[in-house]
Amino acid sequence: MTELGPVAWPPAPIKTERLVLREPEARDRTAIIELFTSPEVGTYIGGPRPRDEFERALPAVPRRRPGLFVADLDESMIGIVDIKRRDADRPGRVRPDGGEVELGYMFLPEAWGHGYAAEACAAALDWVADALPREPVVLTTQTANDRSMRLAAKLGFTEVARFEEYDAEQWFGVWIPITLSG
Ligand SMILES: CC(C)(COP(=O)(O)OP(=O)(O)OC[C@H]1O[C@@H](n2cnc3c(N)ncnc32)[C@H](O)[C@@H]1OP(=O)(O)O)[C@@H](O)C(=O)NCCC(=O)NCCS
Repeated sequence: MTELGPVAWPPAPIKTERLVLREPEARDRTAIIELFTSPEVGTYIGGPRPRDEFERALPAVPRRRPGLFVADLDESMIGIVDIKRRDADRPGRVRPDGGEVELGYMFLPEAWGHGYAAEACAAALDWVADALPREPVVLTTQTANDRSMRLAAKLGFTEVARFEEYDAEQWFGVWIPITLSG
């Protein structure tokens, strides 16, 4: 995977009204397993991971990398917000050479319907605007994923294209940071 870019990492934990965005830690292991093996979470993202295999492969301290945030509510992980470079050979482009910064998100079903994902993603987009000035951020989601489509619109993403990938119609949108100068 291509590096995100020259970002200072890890940042100090990012506090929002109700959440903290921070790096994954050993204590998040159970929640990470729940997240990746949940059939509900996996519905529009390729299905759940087989639990035994996933647990065996997951290191004691979950993998860390720049742009990978855990969303923490009252000292417990409720989801993941992932900022990374998109593979240049994927369909959908806003830069001629591809490799755009892409936003991804997955939250535990019990945390849906409270605005937590929106709160966490908005804070992650603020972090991108600061860490990688002027970078547009893209997002891909199945058009059938109503919750994700509503979240993308709420965050300010606008449609660039729709295409077929993984046997489903995908919505490809972009978010442009607002800059006050030049
Ligand atoms: C996509 C996903 C993150 C959306 O989660 P979500 O909780 O619906 O998203 P939001 O944080 O925007 O919350 C919005 C809901 O919270 C409600 N809400 C309740 N209290 C709220 C508050 N204080 N502030 C804002 N919204 C609030 C809103 O009314 C809205 O409910 P509705 O959709 O029933 O109208 C979640 O469904 C998920 O993890 N899905 C599985 C992974 C996945 O498909 N990811 C997409 C990859 S591209």
